[in-house]
Amino acid sequence: LVKIFLAEHAGFCFGVERAVSLVEETSGIKSNVCTLGPIIHNPQVVRRFSEKGVSVCKSPDDINRESTVIIRSHGVTRETYRNLDEKGIDTVDATCPFVKKAQKSAGEFSRDGFSVVVFGEREHPEVEGIVSFIEGDFYIISSETEAETLPDFEKCALVAQTTQNKDTFSKITEVLKAKCRVLETAHTICSATEKRQSAAIELARRVDAMIVIGGKNSANTTRLFTICGEICPRTYHIETAEELEGVKFMPEDTIGITAGASTPGDLIKEVIEYFGRGQEMNVNNSNSNDEMRM
Ligand code: F3S
Repeated sequence: LVKIFLAEHAGFCFGVERAVSLVEETSGIKSNVCTLGPIIHNPQVVRRFSEKGVSVCKSPDDINRESTVIIRSHGVTRETYRNLDEKGIDTVDATCPFVKKAQKSAGEFSRDGFSVVVFGEREHPEVEGIVSFIEGDFYIISSETEAETLPDFEKCALVAQTTQNKDTFSKITEVLKAKCRVLETAHTICSATEKRQSAAIELARRVDAMIVIGGKNSANTTRLFTICGEICPRTYHIETAEELEGVKFMPEDTIGITAGASTPGDLIKEVIEYFGRGQEMNVNNSNSNDEMRM
């Protein structure tokens, strides 16, 4: 019989849970509710909301005055806040407090005369939001190799996208130390991300195969997949249990399961159920303890 282990921290994080609840609450009391971009990077959840009448708008220009718009947990740019405000659009801000903290740190450092280095993905909406709060020069890097290419600085501050890898953050800090007279670092990687990554690493080390559940467009899920894949070669990234049909497992396999911060519990449950009832399982998941520690 295969043995299945669920990572100690997996699935919905505090910020996503909050954003999803805000959409549920708002759509229960208001009509014409839309989200600015998909509420989370999970196609199944977005589809469920669209069936309840919650639409997805691409930009403030697509939103009419009668609508209520929900800003998702990734946050938006300063220009978008201004635009919504100027148009007088009713807004519910579901930006995760961890993301707000990264935006605030980046803005404050730049106002204090620091060049700001943002460790994150250039194209990611969260990073676009963070850099919009910077009032001076800034650089976006995604690896220590890219950090090597940066110029020398008098005063430099390092800020991370909330879902980045802690070890890479430390390596980038070391690279920057040699390039800056004054270096400040803002520890803006959120505790939910840290816990999911540590739990996934711990599990990947002791199983034969790892399954990472979550949207293929979800940055934090993809990062869990990369981290697990480096430790456990038989790591699979799936969105739903059906994708396991073509994967061959041996009866004596131990299988670890983890899921990104935007993966709902019912999708995790479906994957566990895929392996059938009566299997020997060790479910040790305590992600409900994702306390808000800033
Ligand atoms: Fe917030 Fe971290 Fe989740 S930044 S949205 S708690 S992954």
